[in-house]
Amino acid sequence: MNSSATLLLFGATGDLSKRMLLPSLYALHEDELIDADVKIVGTARSELDDREFRDMAESALEQYLPDDRQTKDQISGFLKRLSYQQLDASSTKGFGDLASKIGDISGGLAIFLSTAPTLFEATIAGLKSAGLTGENVRIGLEKPLGNDLQSSNAINDAVAEAFPEGRIFRIDHYLGKETVQNLMALRFANMMFEPLWNSNGIDHIEITVAETVGLEGRHSFYEKTGALRDMVQNHILQLVGLIAMEPPANLDATSVRDEKVKVLRSLRPVIAEHVVRGQYGNGAVKGEAVSSYQDNLGDSSETETFVALKVFVDNWRWQGVPFYIRTGKRLAERRSEIVVQFKSVPHNIFARGGTRLNANRLVIRLQPEEYVRLQVMAKEPGLDRDGIVLREVPLDLSLTQAFSKTRKRIAYERLLIDLIEGDPTLFVRRDEVEAQWHWIDAIRKVWEANDVAVKSYGSGSWGPSAAIALTERDGVSWND
Ligand code: BG6
Repeated sequence: MNSSATLLLFGATGDLSKRMLLPSLYALHEDELIDADVKIVGTARSELDDREFRDMAESALEQYLPDDRQTKDQISGFLKRLSYQQLDASSTKGFGDLASKIGDISGGLAIFLSTAPTLFEATIAGLKSAGLTGENVRIGLEKPLGNDLQSSNAINDAVAEAFPEGRIFRIDHYLGKETVQNLMALRFANMMFEPLWNSNGIDHIEITVAETVGLEGRHSFYEKTGALRDMVQNHILQLVGLIAMEPPANLDATSVRDEKVKVLRSLRPVIAEHVVRGQYGNGAVKGEAVSSYQDNLGDSSETETFVALKVFVDNWRWQGVPFYIRTGKRLAERRSEIVVQFKSVPHNIFARGGTRLNANRLVIRLQPEEYVRLQVMAKEPGLDRDGIVLREVPLDLSLTQAFSKTRKRIAYERLLIDLIEGDPTLFVRRDEVEAQWHWIDAIRKVWEANDVAVKSYGSGSWGPSAAIALTERDGVSWND
């Protein structure tokens, strides 16, 4: 598919647009990664004209770009690309005006829907009525895509009425993160890990996506969603897919997504004993007192802001290897990481000196720092009269330092350019979303059937103690 000459942003005055999309588009402009004549048309319910929209965009850039990138000429060049059309997407009425504003779409149109999913169906109908769904048009959909398999299917069906799968780009911003893409490089561009990357070499895997933030004003969305659907259904399952998949034959969208979907379909249904749900109570995060979820919400609630799971991938490669997963808000620190715990050596020849051998551990820190650290056993310097003394030491690769000259990009820079250029590799295919929801819905049924209660945890902790017990029962500790 060819590059699009116009990008149409729905939800252009929203928070995601201001914080992420406009700064990302600006970065692509600054680095001359989009053609000089690519136009960006914003649309939303607010009554703005072109000039007011540009002013809004300018203040967003001032607020969210670092000072050393606030170049006046560049910014004014970028703002010239922008225009705006007011629209109430819930009725088809305004779509004719929107089409006139966009003008000729023979050069290709990329649409980005960053609005409430309740508006998706009406928006698609409106686009269709205004002739904005033809062969030259592709559409990007921001999460949440439904709340369960049924509602996700309803959205996907509505979109499929107007767009074939090949022109639908479902966004999971984790796939745009440099460090997440690095997982594939680490596994498939290096010989040393892959021969051990299975149940013979690996004891277990841990995935932590911990946040210090709380609700951030998204009360009604979060209360209906909870951590399992907000984070595990999408971001964490994509990480599981990339960690567990077989080597794809190449990097084509189809090859990569075929391998991920096989993993998602191999996920074993989770039993009640392997799920922990938590909700943050009062506490302190990074030294600052914060109040509980229910105080933030102003109501009582059974929604989980933390979830921990013990998960198995039922296939040849991963038989018997637990994946311990946890994610939560208001935890001790912001940290996303994958820990691959290898098995111990079969025989300890150093045992006579009393030395215990720690098995190798690969820590892939995705954020906020970006590094890969391999814990290995090494000899302590000395004459070793009573036997060799060993210590665990890290072999460190700091990606931030190794690539210090390269600017750290926002995940959306990558995703927006791929949407504009029509490369679907880093977007989620419908069968992946279905497999994800299928597995998530089953977990919710299990906790409903077994009354899996939400346990309170102190803000600033690592979640409820049951999450620690979940691993300790197996003789495993989280990498805290
Ligand atoms: C979003 C969730 O998808 O991801 C948020 O809706 C969460 O609740 C966010 O805070 C985390 O993204 P990141 O990039 O900060 O890890």
